[in-house]
Amino acid sequence: MGIRIRGTGRYIPEKILTNEDLTRMVDTSDEWITTRTGIKTRHIAAADEFTSDLAAKAAKSALDLAGMAPQTLDLIIVSTVTPDKVFPNTASIVQTKIGAGKCVCFDIEAACSGLLYAFNVAYGMMASPIGYKRALIIGAEKLSSIVDWTDRSTCVLFGDGASAVVLENDGRLDTPGFYVAGKLAADGSCADILQIPAGGSSMPASHATIDARMHSIRMGGPKTFQLAVTSMTGACRELLEETGITPDQIRWAIPHQANARIISAVAARLNIPERVYVNVDRYGNTSSASIGICLDELNRSGQLASGDLVLTAAFGAGLTWAAQLIRWI
Ligand code: ACO
Repeated sequence: MGIRIRGTGRYIPEKILTNEDLTRMVDTSDEWITTRTGIKTRHIAAADEFTSDLAAKAAKSALDLAGMAPQTLDLIIVSTVTPDKVFPNTASIVQTKIGAGKCVCFDIEAACSGLLYAFNVAYGMMASPIGYKRALIIGAEKLSSIVDWTDRSTCVLFGDGASAVVLENDGRLDTPGFYVAGKLAADGSCADILQIPAGGSSMPASHATIDARMHSIRMGGPKTFQLAVTSMTGACRELLEETGITPDQIRWAIPHQANARIISAVAARLNIPERVYVNVDRYGNTSSASIGICLDELNRSGQLASGDLVLTAAFGAGLTWAAQLIRWI
C-alpha cells in the first residue's frame, strides 16, 4: 500500500548542558559519564518552552520539508511521557500551535518506544477503510521537567528534544509504501524498574510525595540496561527472520539513543556495527524523540537513498519495546 514518509523534522532546544556543567550540580565526572554512557552534552528547554512547543517546531519543519499545509492533516499523534498537562492531550495543543484543522488528535504513552508505537497506530488507521490520508506523528519530550537534578544516577542521562514524521497515503494499492514490518511488545511485570512513583491515581501529589522527591524518574539502571539489550536484539532478530532480510541488506540501523554501550551491544549482536547511527553523545536520551531525530539527521544530510532499508529499535518504561523495518522511498 502506498503509504509514504513525506517529510521528517526535529527541534532541539538551544541551551546545552555539558558533563562539565553536571559536575557542578552532582558528584560526578566527565570521565564517568563518558565511559558509562557515551553522553557528552544534552539540550535543555527553556522554562517557558513546553513539550507542545518543541513538538510544534519539529512538526513545522517536517511539514515544510513535505511541502504540505497543516490544514490538510487528518491525524496528529504525539508520543510523550512529558505532556504539557495530564489532560488535554498534547496533540490537540500542537494542532492549534501549527494551525492544523480539526483533525483527530491523541497522545501515545509508551515511553521511549512511543514513536514506533505511533508509526504502527498511524499506519493501521491510514490502511483501514476509514482511510486517514495524511498523518503527523511526533515524539516530543521535556525530560528536564521530570528529572531529579540531585540524583546523579539518572540526571546525567536525559535531554530534551522533539522529532516529527509526515505520512501520506497515495490511495493506490500498486505502489510500495514505507512499512516493511514491525514488532511491538510490552511486559508489565517489570513496570517498577523504570517509573515516576507519584502524581498518578495510585499516589496523587501531596506534600509528602513532593518532600520525598517522588515526582521524578526512578530507574534500576543495570536491570534496565540488560533488558534493553535483550529486548531490542530479540525484536530485530524476529523481524529479520520473518522478512528473510539479512543484516547486510540494512542500510542504517537506528536504535533508541539511551546509552552508547547499549547501542554497541545491540549492534554487535546483530552484526551491523558500522551502519548504526549514533548521536547520543550530543543529545543524551530524549526518549520518544530519539529515533525521529536520528531519522531526520540522516534524511537532511543526504545519507538515505530511495530503496534503502532502515531498521529501528526502541525500548522504554512499561516495559515496552519495538522494532520496525522501513523502506525509504
Ligand atoms: N557519576 C559517578 N558515579 C555514579 C554516577 C554518576 N553520574 N551514577 C552512578 N554512579 C555510581 C553508583 O553510585 C555506583 O557506585 P557504587 O558502586 O559505589 O554503589 C557505581 O557508579 C556503579 O553504578 P551502576 O548503576 O552499577 O553503573 P552502571 O555501569 O550500570 O551504569 C547506567 C549506570 C549508565 C545508568 C547504566 O546502568 C544504564 O545505562 N542503564 C540503562 C539506562 C537506560 O537505558 N534507561 C532507559 C530509560 S528510558 C525511558 O523509558 C524514560
